[in-house]
Amino acid sequence: MEKQKNRTVYGRRQSRPLKESQKDLWKNLFPAVNLHLESLPNSYPENVIFEIGFGGGENIAYQAINNPNAICIGCEPFINGVASLLSKIAAENITNIKIFNDDAKILLNAMPDKLISKTFILFPDPWPKNRHHSRRIVNMENLLLIRQKMKKAGEIIIATDHLGYLDWVLKVIKQPLFLENFKITHTPDLPRPSEEEIPATRYEKKALENRPGAFFKFTTI
Ligand SMILES: C[S@@+](CC[C@H](N)C(=O)[O-])C[C@H]1O[C@@H](n2cnc3c(N)ncnc32)[C@H](O)[C@@H]1O
Repeated sequence: MEKQKNRTVYGRRQSRPLKESQKDLWKNLFPAVNLHLESLPNSYPENVIFEIGFGGGENIAYQAINNPNAICIGCEPFINGVASLLSKIAAENITNIKIFNDDAKILLNAMPDKLISKTFILFPDPWPKNRHHSRRIVNMENLLLIRQKMKKAGEIIIATDHLGYLDWVLKVIKQPLFLENFKITHTPDLPRPSEEEIPATRYEKKALENRPGAFFKFTTI
């Protein structure tokens, strides 16, 4: 068991066992797309798209296909999510995705500054209980870390379907420190960004059965 003080990932790492075809991809494809902290690339293209918690990989696969000159780096500690993305990579012959199968903060801390052009955090785990709020990935400390790793005028996109999380983000973005570092360009009172820009993930489609997603966009100053 991981000791509590060393834990950086709070959700499940795996639900069901991988199917045989997924085990095969894990053995034969994952090593080629797996991003190791010890061997991060020395050079990157101008357009670096980053996703924290890509779930089944719908958005990152879409962004990779539609931005062939970009490198898309996705972080997802959940093994079954990574396996779903591997299936998409194989089916669509995607060559511009790298996967970090762990906590996004570990990778952010290791990567060069001023690298990322766009960051997606779509429907992060809401951690609704008060005592778990400190686990929420969207907080001032993490936003400032992401900003440090982003280019000037880079874009951060956050979506949530959870009313408590929506309030939480609204409180974070009212703080002077946030406003010194980010320009708010889209708030949930505006219509959802088009699905051409951000496809609906599996999670969003499920969540939409209950309530619509709230989308925020910020650019780095
Ligand atoms: C509610 S799901 C949403 C998945 C996906 N973005 C979507 O919209 O379908 C939240 C995801 O964040 C991942 N996650 C949780 N903590 C994380 C962390 N510290 N770094 C990266 N991903 C994380 C979870 O494993 C989970 O897949």
